[in-house]
Amino acid sequence: MDALLALDQGTSSSRALVFDRSGHLLALAQRELTQHYPHPGWVEHDAEEIWAGQLACAEEALARAGVKVAAIGITNQRETTVLWDRRTGQPLHRALVWQDRRTAGLCEQLKGQGLEPRVRELTGLVLDPYFSATKLRWLLDHVDGARERAERGELAFGTVDSWLLWKLTGGAVHATDVSNASRTLLFDIHRGDWSDELLGLFGIPRALLPEVRPSAGGFGQAAAFGAPIAGIAGDQQAALFGQAALAPGQAKNTYGTGCFLLMHTGGEARASTQGLVTTRAAQVGPAPQFALEGSVFVGGAVVQWLRDGLRAIGGSGEVQALAESVSDAGGVMFVPAFAGLGAPYWRPDARGALLGLTRGTTQGHIARAALESIAFQSAAVLAAMNADVGAADRLTELRVDGGASANDLLMQFQADLLGIPVLRPRVIETTALGAALLAGLGVGLYGSVADIGAIWQLERAFEPRMSRDEAGARLAQWDRAVRQVLAP
Ligand code: G3P
Repeated sequence: MDALLALDQGTSSSRALVFDRSGHLLALAQRELTQHYPHPGWVEHDAEEIWAGQLACAEEALARAGVKVAAIGITNQRETTVLWDRRTGQPLHRALVWQDRRTAGLCEQLKGQGLEPRVRELTGLVLDPYFSATKLRWLLDHVDGARERAERGELAFGTVDSWLLWKLTGGAVHATDVSNASRTLLFDIHRGDWSDELLGLFGIPRALLPEVRPSAGGFGQAAAFGAPIAGIAGDQQAALFGQAALAPGQAKNTYGTGCFLLMHTGGEARASTQGLVTTRAAQVGPAPQFALEGSVFVGGAVVQWLRDGLRAIGGSGEVQALAESVSDAGGVMFVPAFAGLGAPYWRPDARGALLGLTRGTTQGHIARAALESIAFQSAAVLAAMNADVGAADRLTELRVDGGASANDLLMQFQADLLGIPVLRPRVIETTALGAALLAGLGVGLYGSVADIGAIWQLERAFEPRMSRDEAGARLAQWDRAVRQVLAP
């Protein structure tokens, strides 16, 4: 059998999934990843734990599936920044996670120098601590001797894909793919290469950088599994691919730790005037592909907070029942700006708020408001996207995936707010599926990208039921709550 192994290294967990060539899931193994919060607003991961967890998951999933794999795909939390020693393979510091806000001051400083328009022109991104460049700069400035060693070529930088690739190939390959490179603030998305201008601006030595390749093709051999690594993409671009959203105008929303709504724009890099970013989509072959993206920093993570912070539930699976224990949120609005607010607001300094509490408020209302906040944030991003693309190209349906897309209450509310059908596929592990398919293409298991479309199958369509007047009123209530959070 031609099985494909996907290593899906997300923010909250390491996962390994084995698929057959038709996209059926054969086995899955998962481990939760420790989150380190050394200061308010800082988020770190242990890169060695990422590697060990990912390796253990892969071994477990393969043993369960009982197959030999034809190829391996890697997909990953993007932007998270790892710096390691090329000789020993050891990280110099814990990885700075995409949610980490410690470089907000540096971003403000660069904005103050009037640099944002140029950065945006080259990268499609905004000057926000979310992206890798200022995190890498922080590491070079704060780890003893790091800058000198980087300049001597002794160190390697990578997003999590590069780190895993390095480990899987025993240090033989230091590379990344275009979709991950396009999240660093160092990559010129139009020329498809690292930008010397940006490297100068952020003070990053070129010797640190991985080689950038298309998302499907040879990335090296994983000796431990006797198979080639043949696909790499950032998790959101992998999900877009796995959703078979391959043509301009097709879009998906992934409900993971955060929520990420991406619309494919084909070979055209469409600039946003509405607070979205322009990014590289997964690339098979020589032609660059682009997407418009709205990044919401806290999606499913709000459920984790209900579990670990508020201790309102024992496990994530209990959230739907708790939210359904009340008929509505009782006027409670929850703005989960735990890591600032991403698109379309871009306010790293924002912090979360619970509004509208009364003596009658229960955990049920808070759980319901938490779930609704995921849909409200996605609706704000979709409104920005529709405004960007114009009336003729408005989204008429939305494909969904990721863990929280299994929640029927959330998906119905999402369709109600958006006023368009929300389509959930049979495989909601779309991120991993996308990476597996890219790897399959990379080793020639599929003839062309067109073969991927046939693998996508609908499980359930959620049709909007709420009147547009009521949806408008609810969205206005959300806007008011966000304005309160953003007010100085
Ligand atoms: O940009 C961050 C994103 O890649 C994280 O994805 O799935 O861990 O929420 P996820």
